[in-house]
Amino acid sequence: MDKSMYAIVVENLTKVYGKGETAVTAIADATFQVRPGELVAILGPSGSGKTTLLTCIGLINEPTHGTVVIDGAVVADGGWHGGIDLKRMRREKLGFIFQAHNLIPFLTALENVMIALEINHLTRNEAKGRATELLASLNLGHRLNNYPSALSGGEAQRVAIARALANKPKVILADEPTAALDTENGKNVMALLKKLAVENHSAILVVTHDHRMVEGFDRIFQVSDGRIIDEHNKVAAGRDHVG
Ligand SMILES: Nc1ncnc2c1ncn2[C@@H]1O[C@H](COP(=O)(O)OP(=O)(O)OP(=O)(O)O)[C@@H](O)[C@H]1O
Ligand SMILES: [Mg+2]
Repeated sequence: MDKSMYAIVVENLTKVYGKGETAVTAIADATFQVRPGELVAILGPSGSGKTTLLTCIGLINEPTHGTVVIDGAVVADGGWHGGIDLKRMRREKLGFIFQAHNLIPFLTALENVMIALEINHLTRNEAKGRATELLASLNLGHRLNNYPSALSGGEAQRVAIARALANKPKVILADEPTAALDTENGKNVMALLKKLAVENHSAILVVTHDHRMVEGFDRIFQVSDGRIIDEHNKVAAGRDHVG
């Protein structure tokens, strides 16, 4: 397999929390690939391992076993790959949308998005232009100068989404990004993710409970007790997937 043609390659990924009798296997021997431009929904019951899967791919949670390759670079290989600069990889390749928004309280909505761009060396004017455009596309054009404390939950979540997408990352990981949003804003967020997948060839994994959002995805991964079944690719999953 030519791993460089995939945005994400996961091989025999296992994550065990704790040790001995209290150990929990949150992800068990997962194997799959995601191509640039693919939009993948991750479905599964509470506690099945969805967030663990995203955080292992997102370089936040160290895998116990197995391999993770992001945009051709081996990042984990039975634990973190030696010499990998995790911070830099996260900043340059990944966009993470968490359940809680994590905005910086003393920066405005606009500045919260600009900072992600300035960290990656855009000038202040370039950052301002792109951040303004992104926020407007998420129906936040009238909230640019508000601080997070003056935003509704859904507005703050959309600012966090704009920040995660600002650098057009190769891999976007989203943990229930539309849960706090009304139907219209949920649809806007999904449309924006779809647009990034198509125009920027980003690979996008979205954990969702929201069955209204599932149409429009290219593939669906069903997670059950830490095992991942590729619903739209069951023949290949049976061949490639151990267990
Ligand atoms: N830091 C941790 N330490 C120990 N066990 C953990 C930790 N994080 C998660 N787990 C356990 O791992 C399993 C998978 O958890 P995970 O958070 O990945 O599930 P999830 O599918 O995201 O659930 P939800 O839909 O409720 O967000 C659960 O049994 C959970 O209790
Ligand atoms: Mg979760």
